[in-house]
Amino acid sequence: MAVTIKTQQEIDLMRGAGRLAAEVLEMIGPFVVAGISTGELDRICHNHIVNVQKAIPAPLNYNGFPKSICTSVNHVICHGIPDDNKILKEGDIINIDITVIKDGFHGDTSKMFAVGVIAPHAQKLISVTMDCLYKAIALVGPGVHLGDLGNIIQLHAESHRYSVVRDYCGHGIGRIFHEDPQVLHYGQPQTGMQLREGMTFTIEPMINAGTRHTKLSRTDGWTVTTVDRRLSAQWEHTLAVTSTGCEVLTQRQEENFKIGVG
Ligand code: MF3
Ligand code: CO
Ligand code: CO
Repeated sequence: MAVTIKTQQEIDLMRGAGRLAAEVLEMIGPFVVAGISTGELDRICHNHIVNVQKAIPAPLNYNGFPKSICTSVNHVICHGIPDDNKILKEGDIINIDITVIKDGFHGDTSKMFAVGVIAPHAQKLISVTMDCLYKAIALVGPGVHLGDLGNIIQLHAESHRYSVVRDYCGHGIGRIFHEDPQVLHYGQPQTGMQLREGMTFTIEPMINAGTRHTKLSRTDGWTVTTVDRRLSAQWEHTLAVTSTGCEVLTQRQEENFKIGVG
């Protein structure tokens, strides 16, 4: 599959989808408290996406995924399946990953939530992982190599003695959920594809407190955990490359990216 370059009209539609995905994360925040189940979080998001936003939750039935969002708690790296029997407890950390389809285009974004008071080491993992994403976003612009993005993420994570998950990556996005190119979260500067204006893709680093190694559940075929059962964190945005830098299409109100400045 080739990399697609979006027209300004297509970027406008991507911006609409991205805003809705971000808005789901803003909406669900107050519900992420001890005692709620991840199944209930899924129902709230599903109903909001379908009934309020008049949009489509992209994960539902995607390659057989059974729910509308991904909920990945503690040592779950990604693709956690919401479950009425999975009750959040004080001290948990959870990634909620939202992808919506609106007017034929996808918006894909995730963030970490703390359930009540969490351990300092858990908060630090969350913060360093967020900074990995933000440092990569700050680099994005025409002519930048994909390897430059992976390298800055890897350097920051490893400077804190964390590891970068290699088995899952970011991706091009548009009319199709997962388009080319693959966006690795590790690598060498000046290697890989060069970015061009009009490219839209995600950056979604998964950073482990322990080793980088992953294990896919044999029971459900989706849930990815750390082999050493230590914590993992992830943050994700959908971006569009502009003439001068990038636009964060899934920016939340709590964030403050400069638009079009690389
Ligand atoms: N939202 C995930 C991503 O960032 C993909 C989830 S696919 C699903 O690419 F099937 F697990 F929902
Ligand atoms: Co993604
Ligand atoms: Co996602």
